Amino acid sequence: MSAPDPAKIARFREKLHQEWTDSETTAAWRKWRPQMSAFSQGATQANLQAAQLRPGMSVLDLASGVGDPALEIAEIVGPKGYVVATDLGPGMIGLAEEIARAKGLDQMQFRVVDVEALRFPDETFDVVTSRFGVMFFTDQVKAFGECRRVLKRGGRVAFVVWGTKEQPFLTATIDVLMKYVDAPPPDPDAPHAFMFGERGLLTRKLKDAGFADAREEIKNISGRWTGTPEEYWQQFTEVAAPFRPLLAKLTPETRVKVESEVIATLRKYAEGRGLNIPLEIVVGTGTRE
Ligand SMILES: C[S@@+](CC[C@H](N)C(=O)[O-])C[C@H]1O[C@@H](n2cnc3c(N)ncnc32)[C@H](O)[C@@H]1O
Repeated sequence: MSAPDPAKIARFREKLHQEWTDSETTAAWRKWRPQMSAFSQGATQANLQAAQLRPGMSVLDLASGVGDPALEIAEIVGPKGYVVATDLGPGMIGLAEEIARAKGLDQMQFRVVDVEALRFPDETFDVVTSRFGVMFFTDQVKAFGECRRVLKRGGRVAFVVWGTKEQPFLTATIDVLMKYVDAPPPDPDAPHAFMFGERGLLTRKLKDAGFADAREEIKNISGRWTGTPEEYWQQFTEVAAPFRPLLAKLTPETRVKVESEVIATLRKYAEGRGLNIPLEIVVGTGTRE
């Protein structure tokens, strides 16, 4: 794997930081948390299982956003363990903290941290987790190296990421949107949500960072959206930071067309009073020897 260009990495980092910490993004994640959390429950379960958690463990959850899976991890490690939930900015992690306080999860701490420079001593944690976070790290091998450094010997990483970009929730939304807007092709080197759809890439990066027994498992799960297709689309337009500038390019007429095509596609997944959308995730694990 060739070394990443530092100037490019700096540009990606700045863009990602802006996208994930701006007030519109954080307000949308706060607003839609209950539905999004239910939708991605299968991914949380996969992450918890891969982490091999036990009561009393110390866990670092990276890129925790509004608290998944850090809050569930805190329940499992219990009051004798502890969880440090982290994110790039205070907007999202602030909600996770409010929920933890309301639930009396005193074993949780919250930090604003960029994963590429973890401010924790060597060999602090039993487990490092992250759900839908690591693909956004601009220098992943460096970030994974930091994870390895803060793990105790015998400690474990367990990451959950999106698989293929041919995910119905994506093809039903972005593919329709892209038919109506002119957007420059993305930089092929830029980190993006579906990069670990490339089979073996997550395992290779974990190995490059020095993890033993690095492996990945593809899992097909179901995402239960507990609302209407219209609400799903509304959520998407508010939450998906990289796509908001493209949505803003639509004229009122094309916006109506996009919306009705998206909703018609989403209806294929209607079941009961909601949607059941198939999801492909990748679960990556490794240990520190
Ligand atoms: C898709 S969200 C996932 C949030 C949560 N873990 C979940 O599964 O709902 C991605 C998160 O990664 C965080 N993030 C991106 N780059 C990061 C970095 N370099 N350091 C720490 N967090 C980062 C963002 O702020 C955002 O909250």
